[in-house]
Amino acid sequence: MKFSAKKASTQKHTGGCLVVAATSDQKALPTSTQAVLKSAGIDIAHIYNNGDFTGKTGQVLAIPATSKQSGKIILLGVGESKKADLTSFRKSVKALANSLKKSTDKVITLWIDAVKLSDGTSEQKARITAETFEHSRYQFDTTKSKKQKLVNATFNYVTTETKAAGKGLAVGQATGEGMNVARELGNLPGNVCTPKYLSKQAKKLASSSKALSTQILSEKQMKALGMGSLLSVSAGSVEEAQLIVMQYNGAAKSTKPHVLVGKGITFDTGGISLKPGSAMDEMKFDMCGAASVFGTMHTLTKLLPKINVVAIVAAAENMPSGIATKPGDVVTSMAGKTIEVLNTDAEGRLVLCDALTYAERFKPKSVVDIATLTGACVVALGSHATGLFSNDDELAATLLEAGQASGDKAWHMPLWDEYQKQLDSNFADIANIGGREAGSVTAACFLSRFTEKYKWAHLDIAGTAWLHGGAKGATGRPVPLLTEYLLNHSA
Ligand code: BES
Ligand code: MN
Ligand code: ZN
Repeated sequence: MKFSAKKASTQKHTGGCLVVAATSDQKALPTSTQAVLKSAGIDIAHIYNNGDFTGKTGQVLAIPATSKQSGKIILLGVGESKKADLTSFRKSVKALANSLKKSTDKVITLWIDAVKLSDGTSEQKARITAETFEHSRYQFDTTKSKKQKLVNATFNYVTTETKAAGKGLAVGQATGEGMNVARELGNLPGNVCTPKYLSKQAKKLASSSKALSTQILSEKQMKALGMGSLLSVSAGSVEEAQLIVMQYNGAAKSTKPHVLVGKGITFDTGGISLKPGSAMDEMKFDMCGAASVFGTMHTLTKLLPKINVVAIVAAAENMPSGIATKPGDVVTSMAGKTIEVLNTDAEGRLVLCDALTYAERFKPKSVVDIATLTGACVVALGSHATGLFSNDDELAATLLEAGQASGDKAWHMPLWDEYQKQLDSNFADIANIGGREAGSVTAACFLSRFTEKYKWAHLDIAGTAWLHGGAKGATGRPVPLLTEYLLNHSA
């Protein structure tokens, strides 16, 4: 899809699909909006009066083309003019994008000036529009024999504020694409998306952009580094673990990087602590943290912000076998701490702790890990908010704010010392599980033992990374949050 910002001066409707955003209070319609409706032959006062269009948030009223020359017209309800905010606008645009999913129109023109956000800028408005449309274009069909056709229109975004809109459209499109990259990797089955497959994707991404380079560490190299914790997870699998490092260079070499670390368990059976069978298929999504890192790197290569970012993906498959790690086994992490593996299903923290230690060598400005880490986080927050844990309150506040601004919300959870003793072990420096209580907190506590040397935050996306039920599939979260966070830190 090609998005461009167009000046609201020529009020002629010349074919294609014309979408006009309209408030529920007719009086609030800008004169330019009224003029374009008039030129398209629409008596808007009549439509409001007879009640067919109320303008409530998300209403989509399609008026079919009445001749070959005239295109289709859609009225998009954006609610009461004074109450429009980021949340209501997202809802309206989502409804519009859904209704146009199967559209064959070559040109879609959206008149947007009737919307004034009480809590957002014109740039954010454009960003939401492009991101939502890009997101709506994705449908998984890679492992289906029938392929779907995607909407591929030229999208004209008509406004008086073309400069801000142009910027917002670019960021929104890149973010939407990044989300779709993450969704595709997440949705691929475990027999396709293996650790080696992820390595291949990293090489592919790096070869597509001059700003990106990649380096992949094999099991042998990880062993030499002392990553006994990470390797204990892949021990039972025939798939070799991979530590994938991608470096995005947008600023001077001397500028310290922000580091992203993604959990990339390409399938989590639980290992010897085998999971129950129901919904085990969903554990192919256990690499969605890694997928969000790939998606965010894609977005960066499209926007080329002045910032340095290092992405580390800890990729492994968690399987039971004759040579798998057993409950009670003690392993030694790269940091030198010994770990009693009381439950082989708490494997995410075992791969992450070594990746987090590896991150030290980049002298990071900040480190954010992203992981589908605990079922307990789903119990605590459901599917609306990502769990946020941090050893630095300022970093936590920045990430919360980025989540709010991008509509990809996180919620700050405690990481108090009181919880740490749940990880005491009789046989090693630390146990890998902390009992029934506060499962998402003790998982974060485990990681905090390996992140004392830098500012760090942990995002538990177990509830937000994929949807269940009829719409089962990866969401692409938290690519918008991460993108917002990184762009705010670029020069
Ligand atoms: N990948 C799972 C967490 C998970 C479970 C995410 C369900 C989304 C939905 C993780 O590896 C895991 O199995 N965690 C265990 C930890 C427990 C053994 C302490 C869990 O949450 O049950
Ligand atoms: Mn597990
Ligand atoms: Zn897992």
